[in-house]
Amino acid sequence: MAFRLIVASGNAHKIREIKELTAHLDLEIIGLAEAGQVPPVEEDGATFQENAAKKALETARYLGQWVLADDSGLEVDALDGAPGVYSARFAGEGRGDAANNELLLSRLGQLPLEERSAQFRCVMALASPQGELQFSEGVCRGVIGFEPRGANGFGYDPLFIVPELGRTFAELSSEEKNRISHRSRAIEGMLAILSRMGQ
Ligand code: IMP
Repeated sequence: MAFRLIVASGNAHKIREIKELTAHLDLEIIGLAEAGQVPPVEEDGATFQENAAKKALETARYLGQWVLADDSGLEVDALDGAPGVYSARFAGEGRGDAANNELLLSRLGQLPLEERSAQFRCVMALASPQGELQFSEGVCRGVIGFEPRGANGFGYDPLFIVPELGRTFAELSSEEKNRISHRSRAIEGMLAILSRMGQ
């Protein structure tokens, strides 16, 4: 029987990507929405690692199950790493992706492309029901465009250009994004552990 792994996120896009990235493993991936009533975890850490650890640990202890948490965001070099851990609420709590993207474009103004470098970073924390933690991290470098392009993905995907491909994350198929994304690189670091689960 597949090993049940809770993903401590309510973000349907993230859960879908994590399902795709672990499809070859004998895991049953369950998002928070399906996991039952879980008290919300406040993401008040100063780093992706702190937030990922907190989400994974609190949820694992509460449910008594293995939990994987992903904390991720966009770090723009010209903005000294902002929005970083504030990526989801850059333009204000609950304002959403379009407002975040607009604010990012206005912060960068007409800076030339060579000064618009950025990276997506993802830190994953895997917590056992007993509270043991393991981490992995993935980074994907790119450049922030001048206007949104593409309709796939979520968050800052329409602004994030992969220089080698000349396309934004939102212009890639999910298979193409999964090949190079920060999330896939973080999952890679977890694969050895995840593939042993349930054996
Ligand atoms: P978290 O759910 O607190 O980790 O916030 C993650 C936020 O970072 C999202 O709401 C997006 O704004 C941004 N983000 C993280 N990963 C991606 C991605 O793969 N594409 C686009 N935006 C992302």
